[in-house]
Amino acid sequence: MKKTFQFPCVNGKISIAPSILSADLFCLGEEVRRVEAAGADWLHVDVMDGHFVPNLSFGPSVVSSLNGKTDLALDVHLMVEKPNAFIEAFAKAGADLLTVHIEAKDNLNEALQRIQDFGVKTGLSIKPDTNPETIVPYLDRLDLVLVMSVYPGFGGQAFLPSALDQIRAVRQLIRRSGRSIWLEVDGGINAQTAPLAIEAGADALVAGSAIFSSADPAGALNQIRQASPEI
Ligand code: DX5
Ligand code: ZN
Repeated sequence: MKKTFQFPCVNGKISIAPSILSADLFCLGEEVRRVEAAGADWLHVDVMDGHFVPNLSFGPSVVSSLNGKTDLALDVHLMVEKPNAFIEAFAKAGADLLTVHIEAKDNLNEALQRIQDFGVKTGLSIKPDTNPETIVPYLDRLDLVLVMSVYPGFGGQAFLPSALDQIRAVRQLIRRSGRSIWLEVDGGINAQTAPLAIEAGADALVAGSAIFSSADPAGALNQIRQASPEI
């Protein structure tokens, strides 16, 4: 049975979403079992189209292979120029959360509506140079804001210190909206950067290379958990 999404502010616990972009795809199932056992909350699936970012990654078939095989909520990050054409396929494949980019070249209200109509949680992401204020018109229909702490496209990059101001600004906008919206941070998260992101206002963290490129993924996840202050 799938875990229900819980707002971390309810239980004081940060949500950790390992990104399978850095997993060994030869044994993806085992990789997922390892992070499940280590107490991961969500599984982050990075979708790249070679246009929005200069890289290619996973399609809906990867999400449907995971669906029903793991208790972890499937957190699907669409780094694609035209998300609207793919929302139905990812929703039907079993995505629990679908995040589109504010910089995408599609009608965003339509994208968010479509995600909601499929009963999937809605997320909106901003790249490192995007003004956080641009998310304001969409806040009333969001479940999550994803702040990129690297330029999207590749795993294994260093956390950008400028992301801390982005996180603080988004946290303030969420607070002002009066709504319960997750603030997820993605890129360069490890045991050193996790506490900085959380102190700035994050309540969900994506970690790819820090977990899956480690010889001990469970230990790496635990280190991030232990370094994370209560929220
Ligand atoms: C980057 C992706 C990230 C990536 C994070 O474009 O959106 O989710 O997998 O990888 P790390 O944690 O290695 O920066
Ligand atoms: Zn991502």
